[in-house]
Amino acid sequence: MSNPTEAELIHMFKGIPFTTRSSPELLESLDTFDAREDDVLLVSYPKSGTHWLAGVITKLYNTQVTLTSPIEFGDISTLEELNKLSSKRIIPTHLDYNMLPPNFKNKKCKMIYISRNPKDTAVSMFHYYRDNPNLPTIDTWTAFFDLFLKGDVVCGSWFDHFLSWEEHENDKNILFLFYEDMKKDLPKIVKEISLFLGLNVSDKDIQDISKKSSFSEMKSDTEKENSDPSHTVCALTSNRKLIFRKGAVGDWKNHFTPKQNRRFEEIFNEKMKLSKM
Ligand code: A3P
Repeated sequence: MSNPTEAELIHMFKGIPFTTRSSPELLESLDTFDAREDDVLLVSYPKSGTHWLAGVITKLYNTQVTLTSPIEFGDISTLEELNKLSSKRIIPTHLDYNMLPPNFKNKKCKMIYISRNPKDTAVSMFHYYRDNPNLPTIDTWTAFFDLFLKGDVVCGSWFDHFLSWEEHENDKNILFLFYEDMKKDLPKIVKEISLFLGLNVSDKDIQDISKKSSFSEMKSDTEKENSDPSHTVCALTSNRKLIFRKGAVGDWKNHFTPKQNRRFEEIFNEKMKLSKM
């Protein structure tokens, strides 16, 4: 059987490329979604550490919570399934702020946005494209680099995504986190998340959760299938093993040529000139 064509894998919605695993009808209906005040949204551009953050958050609760599939994943029945859940919902999404169902904003649901150095994000996404049959074939890093800078990849431009959320960084219901800060001092960030979520977690539990959320622990849990192997918080795969690749800061240095780095910096500086990043 031949590989699926790009048209079979990707479609455009409001100018943003989505995989065909997000149906147009579902994307069209997101605006009608009924959020609950106690929903927690876990927001990211792909490959920013979404699964890592999800692992931490679910361990913080000692009451029953459900980590759902991403709200933009599947067909129209996704919204019905979410409506049926009786427990507290932790809902992942890669949507940019403008596409988020307005009810989450009106009800001031708590949202955690995780971001990562876009150079490392690009490299992580390149490997993901190569390994993931749900994404178009990419021949070389050079080809992917150009697509990433143009925003011609799933979920669109990293810059537009980040900026759409950064505009709301002072909203009290949104917590901004950086992958690199989690790498530097995970217990500190775990504590910050627990305070934001209003959870009373002891220092000992913070330390335990941080240990269980290390890259090696999470990777080996997935390999031993201690966690549900077909549950990912990424709308782009249902194979958890594709998620845990290297888990490092600065892998971009092994991929970017000096010329690519200069070009990236130029575009970064131009696009992010109004950003505080
Ligand atoms: P790499 O491809 O650079 O290794 P997402 O969950 O948003 O898809 O992000 C996946 C990236 O987060 C991958 O990056 C993955 O290795 C990294 N990651 C996942 N769990 C991690 C952990 N516990 N610690 C550090 N990085 C982690």
